[in-house]
Amino acid sequence: MNNDIKTQINALTQALNQHNHSYYVLNNPTISDYAYDELMQELLTLENEHPEFKDPDSPTQRVGSDLSNDFTQITHQYPMLSLGNTYNESEIADFYQRVSRSIGDDIEYVCELKYDGTSISLSYENGKLKHAVTRGDGEKGDDVTSNVKTIKSIPLKLKGDYPANFEVRGEIFMPIAEFLKTNELREIEGEAPFANARNAAAGSLKMKKSAEMAKRKLDCLLYYMLGSELPANLHSQNLEKARSWGFKIPEHYKICKSLAEIYDFINYWDKERYNLPFEIDGIVIKVNDINLQNELGYTAKTPRWAISYKFKAEEACTQLLSVDYQVGRSGRITPVANLKPVQLAGTTVKRASLHNADIIAQLDLHEKDMVYVEKGGEIIPKITRVEMSSRHPMSAPVRFIAHCPQCNTPLIRPDGEAAHLCPNDKVCPPQLKAKIEHFVSRKALNIDSFGEQVVDLLFEKGLVRDVSDIYHLNYDNLIGIARLSDDEENKTLFSFKEKSTQNLLHGIAQSKQVPFANVLFGLGIKHVGATVAKTLTKTFHTIDKLSNATLDELTALDDIGPKVAQSVIDYFTDSNNSALIDRLKASGLKFESEAPTQNNGKFNGLSFVISGTFATFSRDELKNTIEHNGGKNLSGVSAKTSYLVAGENTGPSKLAKAEKLKVKIISETDFIDLLEH
Ligand code: IVH
Repeated sequence: MNNDIKTQINALTQALNQHNHSYYVLNNPTISDYAYDELMQELLTLENEHPEFKDPDSPTQRVGSDLSNDFTQITHQYPMLSLGNTYNESEIADFYQRVSRSIGDDIEYVCELKYDGTSISLSYENGKLKHAVTRGDGEKGDDVTSNVKTIKSIPLKLKGDYPANFEVRGEIFMPIAEFLKTNELREIEGEAPFANARNAAAGSLKMKKSAEMAKRKLDCLLYYMLGSELPANLHSQNLEKARSWGFKIPEHYKICKSLAEIYDFINYWDKERYNLPFEIDGIVIKVNDINLQNELGYTAKTPRWAISYKFKAEEACTQLLSVDYQVGRSGRITPVANLKPVQLAGTTVKRASLHNADIIAQLDLHEKDMVYVEKGGEIIPKITRVEMSSRHPMSAPVRFIAHCPQCNTPLIRPDGEAAHLCPNDKVCPPQLKAKIEHFVSRKALNIDSFGEQVVDLLFEKGLVRDVSDIYHLNYDNLIGIARLSDDEENKTLFSFKEKSTQNLLHGIAQSKQVPFANVLFGLGIKHVGATVAKTLTKTFHTIDKLSNATLDELTALDDIGPKVAQSVIDYFTDSNNSALIDRLKASGLKFESEAPTQNNGKFNGLSFVISGTFATFSRDELKNTIEHNGGKNLSGVSAKTSYLVAGENTGPSKLAKAEKLKVKIISETDFIDLLEH
């Protein structure tokens, strides 16, 4: 019996330690908060009953810490506590009754949303932001002031009648739209995506360069004020005061006077949370009166005057049908579970991400298992656990593939990385196709009408195997080729007719005018995103200079660290890449930045307003041409405007104003004339 308990304690300790590591160190949680709390509770109970088996370093002995070595640490003036968690109405009722028993019946509560980000403590002195400190271990946290100053919603200077010294606490988070954008960008730049918005916020806050962190567009909502001279005796009034000083205080709180009102608030937000632009993971219930808060006091880790209610992430149980392995542009293999379709949080779920081999092993996933899928903080549903009781006794564990599903090359797993890679980057079809898709994409060569279907078709027909082949396509080899569906009906999915052929050839011809920075981005060098490509072309001007740059020269640039620099050097060391660049050069692509012509350009001293739509050029192309030739783009017509370039549907007010001020109105053809003569 005792041996059993010891084994149980060991297993729980090990599991919790591993989940802690995934969460705090790898920023990649492997279990839901609910399941984590359950494991922790189980361990606490066993340890209480059998203290003799308790590991001195048990995970129950510490609160997770977000301290990192790169920041100075600051001791919190008031410790940053956490909240007791509840998961059902009866636990809320227990809290409510505890409070009533201690201080009486007629109590006002404030119900707030529980923002799912990373907590922050801001201290203000004489109306100025002094320090921004993370929670850390609760006693001391990291000084992230310079990063936090880039968050636009945090006031650096207050207005109104604020106390000389106080602290305000809140949550820094990444809005959902921003989270999706950030992950899209990371995918392009060959970085692993963040598992959820919370990790994205926490990771961003710890970035070394505040200019980089500023690009992440974090936000902050404040929900708690501390200090010896607070303006009011009610928590809700303090929040309203803080709003008047310039803080972003959430609108969604409610004063509740009964248990029923608290339940109503919970039930309302359990559904409505999906319509918020940010993630919440529960609600927080606080006693409003600060004197009563003080009367109730604190336990070692949590206040007795507040509690959180955690929403149960919506969960569904379904069967694992199979596992697909997708191959990304850089060869990264992503396992994806195909599931028997199931309804979850308003959508039908058919697939769930399995991330990597470790996750499959941790889940102990077997073929045809019944699995639970959850849509919690993550946008893509994930499998949280297996229903062991329904496992078929003969079912085999899911084994991560050893060979590339597309080209059969043995996979590798670089040291210290969680992902498997297919190293056959010169031949493996999905890698080659993804490289072509990247090359023609909007931020790269921007070739319109070159979607996924076209890439597939041209690749299958052997017309485009690498991006340099694009510039050898012609009318004769495109017209009439078609892509058929795989099913028996052999339906035509796409075919090149007269118009689509002309469009594609026109797009390809135009792409030769795309600036060097876009071409460089299009090459798909690992870690070289659109911004890095711009930095590189601004400094090195030509591909030859860039290909000879040293590690020191590269790392001396803003935004470029050793990882990016090494990747650039590796790219140019590969003779296949130099040969590809030579072929692209021969086709007339730009491998040099435009010489700065602003001072001796054709349009020096002239200003233009572009309005309407044009037959040959896009508005952006016209604007770029103007700038490249030393001219200025203006948004509105004024007496200083030299030309109004009027396309189709030019705004009538612009036309009228130009006529009145005798500004010359020219067409697109006049504009080209002006440029060329
Ligand atoms: S009050 C002393 N209010 O939840 C209590 N916390 O475990 C101070 N959180 O670390 C916290 N929304 O980061 C409070 N409306 C809210 C909150 C909130 C999110 C976070 C906070 C804290 C954790 C509690």
